[in-house]
Amino acid sequence: MIRYQYDLANVDWQEAAEVVRLAPLGTREPEKMARAFHNSYAKVLVFDDRKLIGLARAICDGEYHAAIYDVVLLPEYQGRHIGQEMVQRLCARLPVANLILFANPGREGFYTKLGFRKMLTAMARMHPGMADPARGFLAPDPALGKKDRTA
Ligand SMILES: CC(C)(COP(=O)(O)OP(=O)(O)OC[C@H]1O[C@@H](n2cnc3c(N)ncnc32)[C@H](O)[C@@H]1OP(=O)(O)O)[C@@H](O)C(=O)NCCC(=O)NCCS
Repeated sequence: MIRYQYDLANVDWQEAAEVVRLAPLGTREPEKMARAFHNSYAKVLVFDDRKLIGLARAICDGEYHAAIYDVVLLPEYQGRHIGQEMVQRLCARLPVANLILFANPGREGFYTKLGFRKMLTAMARMHPGMADPARGFLAPDPALGKKDRTA
């Protein structure tokens, strides 16, 4: 049975990092991931009985703005509207009108169906590992070509 949980009780952070890796959404250090989730305003953990199968979190100022991160589901559970339900439940716990996120390249359509639209003036400074335009998150720096200012 699929179950949604809103606190971090009994989360095995090794297992959580493994869900991120298998989704796939990259690698996470379990200790850092635990701190990031504990420092987040809202989170949703999805279990199939006792097995962790998905998670998502958001930071939020409680009044105006929130940002959504780490939206992942194990591959064998994808395509069954569980991800959509997870994000809807996360958004319902954010008492603000402005929600932002950056979609993994190719996932934009998933968020469009949840009511998100592309931002025309979004700007970001990113970790060097994500700043390479080849990753698909940032436009090339017009001044530096492919080299990033913060690298
Ligand atoms: C992104 C993710 C959470 C989506 O969860 P999911 O359970 O597979 O998606 P859902 O079944 O809830 O999809 C809901 C709707 O969005 C659509 N959709 C899902 N992924 C899509 C995509 N990449 N592009 C366009 N539409 C997509 C589905 O077809 C479905 O449409 P429908 O309502 O018309 O049937 C999941 O696929 C995942 O973990 N992917 C790997 C990690 C990742 O990239 N996370 C996103 C980080 S920004």
